Amino acid sequence: MRLLVTGKEGQLVRSLLERAPRAGVEVVAVGRPRLDMSEPSTVAAALDGVEADAIVNAAAYTAVDKAESEEALATRINGEAAGEIAAYARRLGLPFLHISTDYVFDGEGPRPYREDDPTGPIGAYGRSKLAGELAVLERDPRATILRTAWVHSPFGANFVKTMLRLGETRAELSVVADQKGSPSYAPDLADALLNIARQRVERRSENFGAGVYHMTGSGEATWADLAEEVFAEAERLGRAPVRVRRITAEQYPTPAKRPSNSRLDNSRLNHVFGVTLPDWRVSARACVNRLLGAP
Ligand SMILES: NC(=O)c1ccc[n+]([C@@H]2O[C@H](COP(=O)([O-])OP(=O)(O)OC[C@H]3O[C@@H](n4cnc5c(N)ncnc54)[C@H](OP(=O)(O)O)[C@@H]3O)[C@@H](O)[C@H]2O)c1
Repeated sequence: MRLLVTGKEGQLVRSLLERAPRAGVEVVAVGRPRLDMSEPSTVAAALDGVEADAIVNAAAYTAVDKAESEEALATRINGEAAGEIAAYARRLGLPFLHISTDYVFDGEGPRPYREDDPTGPIGAYGRSKLAGELAVLERDPRATILRTAWVHSPFGANFVKTMLRLGETRAELSVVADQKGSPSYAPDLADALLNIARQRVERRSENFGAGVYHMTGSGEATWADLAEEVFAEAERLGRAPVRVRRITAEQYPTPAKRPSNSRLDNSRLNHVFGVTLPDWRVSARACVNRLLGAP
């Protein structure tokens, strides 16, 4: 099976490239400069020529704070270009997997969000990603949309890497403890996506697996819990201890407000595809081990 994946250096696309061989999948990553999603009208031509069995849109404008001052650009990339890729997939009759986010919700709900809960993004990034979901479903009603959250990995920029970098020079760090979510390790997401893509390709004629799904690491945490897990593992590997001081989001102002509740109910993913991601603590430790070069 050959998968066309958008993006080249992103956390998810690099994880897909790394995990694909053991799943017997060939990943063709198409990113900048060939594919520039800020110019949606050029997207289809940039994807042409890859004889793929399915398409995964793993590229996105992901700078949550910057999006507040660049919403038009974020919407072109996350909204319009996503729709163009969906239309391209439909034209070719290929299964299309699109990645979305917990930020489509306002985070005020009391329990993990289900796929059909009402959306209501509280920032520009969330609005642009919701525009993407709507554009994708309009252009390819058979698409599979997978919402994830709190992604970390050995690649790119993410919370786990930031904690390890800051922890090198500090004995104490203040970390937000009143936002809840499920840390999701990009290599775990990649394994799940490869499995889901295969099921979609093998059962293409029955149009199996269309719709919206939630796909995050198992279990739940606050950012402070994740930081503590990271520092505990780093200490086990010989780093100096770092204490986590638990603060509120209000004490750590950012240009974009984050949802307080980012938890996503993954039961539909398990029910339809038989996929459950590993526990977030196990994967957070795996990420630290890789980043600190443990054998
Ligand atoms: N990171 C998170 O915590 C998080 C949470 C929830 C959902 N998600 C979603 O998960 C997916 C993967 O995220 P990630 O963490 O892997 O993102 P990432 O590490 O920030 O990578 C973003 C990717 O998008 C590509 N990209 C950005 N602008 C582009 C443009 N104009 N044209 C073409 N490609 C462009 C980048 O291209 P280059 O290869 O050229 O750099 C890169 O490959 C995204 O849909 C994101 O919205 C992420």
